[in-house]
Amino acid sequence: MSYYRHHIFFCLNDRPNGEACCARQGAQQAFDHCKSRVKAEGLAGPGGVRVNKAGCLDRCAGAPVAVVYPEGTWYTFVDPADIDEIVESHLKQGQPVERLLLAADVGR
Ligand code: FES
Repeated sequence: MSYYRHHIFFCLNDRPNGEACCARQGAQQAFDHCKSRVKAEGLAGPGGVRVNKAGCLDRCAGAPVAVVYPEGTWYTFVDPADIDEIVESHLKQGQPVERLLLAADVGR
């Protein structure tokens, strides 16, 4: 068994030059919200869920993005309710949130 049941990485990369990036699409707020929800649900820690910051994940055209391991499930989201759904459905119950999946062909 792996140390964490689920590991979610949020890209927080900022591009001041105006190119697509997650930081300018609410990534920090989503990260903070996810972290607090995971903690409030008692999911944080070994055997549970770890929420981490990441640099650019090279899928910027879908910004903001996050990825859940070990499944390698990629998400794009717009508001705290989306994050709540990822926490409740995927991180708590192991069911990916189909409506928030990042399309397979989205790159930089
Ligand atoms: S800036 Fe977030 S994936 Fe590239």
